[in-house]
Amino acid sequence: MFVHVLGAAAGGGFPQWNCNCQMCHGVRSGSINAKARTQSSIAVSGDGINWVLFNTSPDILAQLAAFPKLQPARSLRDTAIKAIVFMDSQIDHTTGLLMLREGCPHEIYCSDMVFEDLSTGFPLFEMLKHWNGGINRHPIPLDNSAFTIPGIDGLAFTAIPVQGKAPPYSPHRNNPHVGDNIGIQVHDTQSGKSLFYAPGLGDLTDDTRALMAASDCLLVDGTFWREDEMETVGLGEKKAADMGHLPQSGSNGMIEVLRPMDKPRKVLIHINNTNPILDEDSEQRKILKEEGIEVAFDGMDITL
Ligand code: MLT
Ligand code: MN
Ligand code: ZN
Repeated sequence: MFVHVLGAAAGGGFPQWNCNCQMCHGVRSGSINAKARTQSSIAVSGDGINWVLFNTSPDILAQLAAFPKLQPARSLRDTAIKAIVFMDSQIDHTTGLLMLREGCPHEIYCSDMVFEDLSTGFPLFEMLKHWNGGINRHPIPLDNSAFTIPGIDGLAFTAIPVQGKAPPYSPHRNNPHVGDNIGIQVHDTQSGKSLFYAPGLGDLTDDTRALMAASDCLLVDGTFWREDEMETVGLGEKKAADMGHLPQSGSNGMIEVLRPMDKPRKVLIHINNTNPILDEDSEQRKILKEEGIEVAFDGMDITL
């Protein structure tokens, strides 16, 4: 299995266009040791030729340009993207589909709740019907059964509902439903290896912990270092939990969750631009290193 990180930042990217927090200003001015990152998406392939995208970020066109394997140029109009999986219906994970309209219809895998959001509050799927029918929608089973994606050979996918949040625009923002956010385990039927991907992980059930502990590689919620990070940097009162994210520090934070898991390689993804772990020389980054936890970056390749 080939995994390519297209974008490792949370919504807004890093630096965020209108933000002058210490991290955004630091990367813009070169005064901290940090890499810019685009918004949250990965590409996964079993054969290195045909790829499935997880999320389509607002930065998708730059991400495609930076990863030529997705444009194999076998015909006048071509793409190596066989299907798109949505982990939720957040703007940072879905808006890029508009940029891919010339390639409609797309094969879209999403939960019923995500389908509803993208047909109502943000009627992306309705709008795209005017481009060659828009999408062919495939429901993601949430009953622990594996599904396959035609054209993506050698990979099986198992989704697990995770606690998170529907987007601010969602008609059920304050009324959480199963399927608003999911994690997915991708299993390579040849190598036997598995990836667990969950860019939003508000709270962890025993089932989610068990699935993570049994995976070979984790790409999981790295949004915030602190529960009250937005407040401490002066950007409002929203807590990590209010946004459906589990911070790294603190008791029952991601570091403590990951510590007992011996098997998987541990990588944080969907990093918010306020998070000090983006600074490679920070104290927080040193702590992650000691814990054996990596921080994803745009262009990161993982082979399993
Ligand atoms: C989130 O996951 O909470 C988002 O990154 C927020 C956003 O896209 O604005
Ligand atoms: Mn997000
Ligand atoms: Zn910022």
